[in-house]
Amino acid sequence: MSFTLPAIASSELSTIPSPSLVIFRERLLANLDGMLVMAKSPSRLRPHCKTHKMEQVIKLWLERGVTKHKAATIAECEMLADAGATDVLFAYNPVGPNVGRIIELAKKFPRCAFTVTNDHERPLRELSAAASAAGVTIGVMLDLNLGMDRTGITPETPTAVALYSLTNTLPGLRPAGFHVYDGHQRQMNLEERNAAVAAQWPRVIALRSQCEAAGAKVPALACGGTPTFPCYAAMDDPTIELCPGTCVFHDAGYGTNFPDLPFSPAAAVVTRVISRPAADRVTLDIGNKAVAADPPRGARMFLPAMPDAVQEIHSEEHLGLVTPHAAQFQPGDVVMAIPMHICPTSALYDKVAVIENGQIKEYWTVTSRNRKLTI
Ligand SMILES: Cc1ncc(COP(=O)(O)O)c(C=O)c1O
Repeated sequence: MSFTLPAIASSELSTIPSPSLVIFRERLLANLDGMLVMAKSPSRLRPHCKTHKMEQVIKLWLERGVTKHKAATIAECEMLADAGATDVLFAYNPVGPNVGRIIELAKKFPRCAFTVTNDHERPLRELSAAASAAGVTIGVMLDLNLGMDRTGITPETPTAVALYSLTNTLPGLRPAGFHVYDGHQRQMNLEERNAAVAAQWPRVIALRSQCEAAGAKVPALACGGTPTFPCYAAMDDPTIELCPGTCVFHDAGYGTNFPDLPFSPAAAVVTRVISRPAADRVTLDIGNKAVAADPPRGARMFLPAMPDAVQEIHSEEHLGLVTPHAAQFQPGDVVMAIPMHICPTSALYDKVAVIENGQIKEYWTVTSRNRKLTI
């Protein structure tokens, strides 16, 4: 594993407290433009905002003609609509009070089309009743389980056609297609990933034919994340929507596991040496409240300045490293850290410093890290 980061002027670095998340604007723009090249057209993209949760990134997408967006929380949906997105997919089956919150969003942002995912009749009927009572129409994508076993129904489920057909007959609903998320396809080799996607595709297409034969249109297939982005991008079905999230910022995890992807890390944590507790030890101020802790301990970040250091202690505010090069580091030294998983890392920060040409250009707010904005 080896990644580099653009430099930050030392006069600027000295004003950034640690730990802080910084975004490298040139890298971010290169990733967005690389995604557009891969997608071939902005209309094929429906990027997932969970990676950044920031209005300013959505504005960059809108400037590039990308109007369809994907979200995993109601707060992300609200951030998207508020930033100007006109087509928002809440890819998280709404149940309980979230049914009413989606209706509130549709009322608050009438120029934005809202779609949700669904895999069960009970919340679907609740959504229909609430939407028709409020006089709004909500799109519904049937959530498919292609082997990830997280949510969705398998395409061969005998009731799948009838469930999807309800979106065509119940008031207040609009059949919007299928949600085809396959986060379990993580083959390192692109050819193997392509083969896995090709093997599951006939199951999706067979269900689509059955639903259409039953009279329900299937206007879109919202497919994949970052690993399978190149696989779906290479297919020519005009209803495919490409839904990568992570590659907007990219991270050391995907950079290591999917070497074919033409993206580079655009976000990093500024951390500092706070102690040298033993001859072979360096302690940094990047605990597990400053970087995502879902990767295993010892592999939660890549440190370009000390790639071989063993990440031995990781507590709330401390990272204890063991390295034969410890003597090269003194308290106060800045050490940059590239998170292994950037999405939960962004969610740990209120604001990020945006670096351009080595200088702090501005600060962006991580708006939808909160669970609730106004709705
Ligand atoms: C439903 C859904 N769609 C899209 C994505 C984006 O995937 P990635 O993070 O691989 O870009 C995710 C990621 O968790 C997801 O859960």
